Amino acid sequence: MISYIDNLFVIEMKNSSYVFTGGDVPTALYWGEKLHGEELGYLSKKRGHSSFDPDLDRNREEYGFWDSYSVLESCLKINYEKNRQLDMRFEDYFIRTEGGKESLILRFQNQYSSLKAEIVYEVYPEFDIIGRSMRLINDGEDVVIENLKSGSVSIPPQKHYRVRYLSGKWAGESHRNDQYLENGAFTIQSRTGNTGPHFNPAFALDNGTASEQSGNVWFGLLGYSGNWQITFEKTTFENVKITAGISNYDFSYTLYKNEEICTPIMYVGFTACGYGSMSRILHAFENKYILPRRKMGRVLYNSWEATGFDVRVESQKELAKRAAKIGVELFVIDDGWFGQRHSDRAGLGDWYVNKEKFPNGLVELITYVKSLGLDFGIWVEPESVNPDSDLYRAHPDWVYRFNDREPMQARNQYTLNISKPEVKQFILDFMEKLLSENPDISFVKWDMNKTLLDVSAGNTATDKELWHRHVIALYEIWETLRRHFPNVEFETCSGGGSRVDLGILRFADQCWPSDNTNAYSRLSIQEGFSYFYAPRIMTAWVTDASTGEERKYERPYSYRFHSAMMGMLGIGANISRFSEKTLMEFAKYIAQYKEIRKTIQYGMQYRLSSLLESPLHAVEYISEDGEEIIIFAFHQGFCYDAPEPRLYPQGLCSESLYQVEGMEKPLHGSTLMKAGLETSLYGDFDSKLIRIRRIQN
Ligand code: GLA
Repeated sequence: MISYIDNLFVIEMKNSSYVFTGGDVPTALYWGEKLHGEELGYLSKKRGHSSFDPDLDRNREEYGFWDSYSVLESCLKINYEKNRQLDMRFEDYFIRTEGGKESLILRFQNQYSSLKAEIVYEVYPEFDIIGRSMRLINDGEDVVIENLKSGSVSIPPQKHYRVRYLSGKWAGESHRNDQYLENGAFTIQSRTGNTGPHFNPAFALDNGTASEQSGNVWFGLLGYSGNWQITFEKTTFENVKITAGISNYDFSYTLYKNEEICTPIMYVGFTACGYGSMSRILHAFENKYILPRRKMGRVLYNSWEATGFDVRVESQKELAKRAAKIGVELFVIDDGWFGQRHSDRAGLGDWYVNKEKFPNGLVELITYVKSLGLDFGIWVEPESVNPDSDLYRAHPDWVYRFNDREPMQARNQYTLNISKPEVKQFILDFMEKLLSENPDISFVKWDMNKTLLDVSAGNTATDKELWHRHVIALYEIWETLRRHFPNVEFETCSGGGSRVDLGILRFADQCWPSDNTNAYSRLSIQEGFSYFYAPRIMTAWVTDASTGEERKYERPYSYRFHSAMMGMLGIGANISRFSEKTLMEFAKYIAQYKEIRKTIQYGMQYRLSSLLESPLHAVEYISEDGEEIIIFAFHQGFCYDAPEPRLYPQGLCSESLYQVEGMEKPLHGSTLMKAGLETSLYGDFDSKLIRIRRIQN
C-alpha cells in the first residue's frame, strides 16, 4: 500500500516498509522490517555539518538531479546551452493501479528548461520488491544527457556493510564475492556493451552476519543488457547510498524536443530472513512478473560440443535418433548450419542454409527430428558478422567502426550497428523468414560472442548514444519476434553467460550460464547464478567434459547428471560415440529428471552447503505443495580423517512426517532439520540425489 501523509511517502509491503520524504529533494528515511512508517516524520529534520557538508540529507537522495550541490553520485546530469544545472521542483504525485499492482509516480519540472521528470516506484508488495526508474520528457530545447541512472537507495546505518555480488570471466561466470565497504565508492559495472561476464548487475548487502537462514538482507538487480553501473558510496557520515543505472562510460544521449527516455528498472528488495530467503523471493518474483514462459522446460540436446561447426544433416540425424532414444525432447543444432561457416573465421552474417551440409535444406532434418517425436531448435548470432562474409562485403558500413580505422576483431568478427534501421530490418527479415518458412522451429538460441568494440558510426555527434541504442534495438527485435512467433522459445546466450539480466529476461525463456560445462566448475557457477536468478531458466548440459590428458579428471556420469539436473537438464555429449550401455545410463537419468523436474523448476530452492565453506555441496528443492523434497549432494574429496559429511534439510514442516528414500522409518521434519541426514558420500567426486516425500501433514 502506498500513502502520502505529512510530506512522507510510505510504501508498506508484506514484511517491509520503505519511507522517504516528499518535496523537491525526496530523501530516504527508512527501508527495512515493517513498522509504522507514517510516524517517521520526527526523523526528517535538516542536518548539516559545516560549510563543506551543509546539507547531509543530500547523502540520502532518492534521485539525485545534478545541481552541483551534492558531491555524491548523481542520477541525472544534463547539458544544454543555457544552463546545465538542474533545478527540479516537485509538482505533484499520483498512484497508478495496473493489474492489481500499484505504482507511485512523482512529477518534477525543471525551472530552467521544459524538462519534466517522473520518478517511478512500481510496488510488488507480496515480494517486498520495488521497481525504481525515471522517465524524462523534453517539451523544450534539445538537451544532452551525460548521466542517466534509475535511482538511489539508502541502507539504514549499521556497523558493517558487506556487499555480496557476482564476478567472473568467460567460462568462469557468476562466482560469489564479498566486499566490506570502507569510506569511499565501490563500483561494479560493465563496459563491454552487454551485461558482461565480469560482473552481473545484481547485489545483496547485509551487516556481515546474515546467513542463508537469518539476518537482514537488502538486494537489487538492474534490468539492463548494456553498459551498466552500480555504485555503493559510504560517506564519513555513516551513510550508504547505492545508485544504479546506465554506465557513464563513454555515454551521452541527446534528447530532442518532444522526445522522452526511460531508464532501465532497478528492482530492490528486503528480507529479514537471510540470503536463502532473498533468492527464493527473487525466483518467485521472476517467475510471476519477469519471465515470459509458463511451460515446463524441455530436456534438450545441443550439438555444439559433439560436432562443432561440422553440422551435417547425416551426423545430426544420427545424434537426433540417439537423443530421442534416451528421452531428449528438443533437438538443437548449434553454430555452423549457414553460409560458409566451417569455422569461426567465415560465414557469420550469411543466413542461408549451407547446401553442402544440408543439400535438401533444413526441412530434411526438421522433418526427421519431428518424426522422432522431438521438437527442433536452432542457433543464431544476428548481431555479428565475419569480415569474410557476403554480408560484410556488401555492407562494410553496417559495422561499428571509427573513421578511417579498421574495426577491431574478436573471435574474427565485428558487431553490426543494429540501431541503423536497415540493419535492424535485415535481422528482423532473416529471422522472420527462418521462423515462418520453418514453422517447426520452436526454439532459438540467440548468441553474441564478443564485446562491443569500436562503438562508433564514424565519429558522428551522436556516437556515444550507440551503446544504449544497441540495447534498445535488441529489445525491440526480441519483442517483435516474440509477438510474431508466440510459440517459439528463446534462449539468451553470450559466449556463455554474458547476457543474463532482468532486462533481456523479459523476453528470454531461459539462459546459457556458461560455456564451462565441467560438472564440478558448474557447481560454483550455478550457485552464484542461484543467488539472483531462478533455477528453471538455468540450462546445464551433460557433456564429454574433457578429452585426452584431461580425461583423468572426468567426473562420473552420476556426478555430471546430478550437477546438470539442478536447473534445466540438457545433453551436449557426443552420444553418437556411446555404447548401448552408456545410452541406457543416460536414459535412466533423463527419466529420473522428468519425474522431479516440476519440483526443480517450480519449487523453492535452499542452498544447504556451499563449496566455498565445505567440501560438501548440497542444494535442496521443495515442491510448491511441500510434498516432494529433492536434494543433490556432492562430495569433492575422500579423506580418512574427516567425518562423514552430514546435511541439514531446510524448509520442512517440523511436525510433518517424511519418508527418505532408502531409509527404513519415516522421520519428522524437526528431526531431519535438526539432527541432519548422513550422506554416505565417501569416494572422490561422489554425488547423490536424495528423494524425500511427505507422508503425513
Ligand atoms: C558460444 C556459445 C556456445 C556455442 C558457440 C558457437 O560460445 O556459448 O554454446 O553456441 O558460441 O559458436
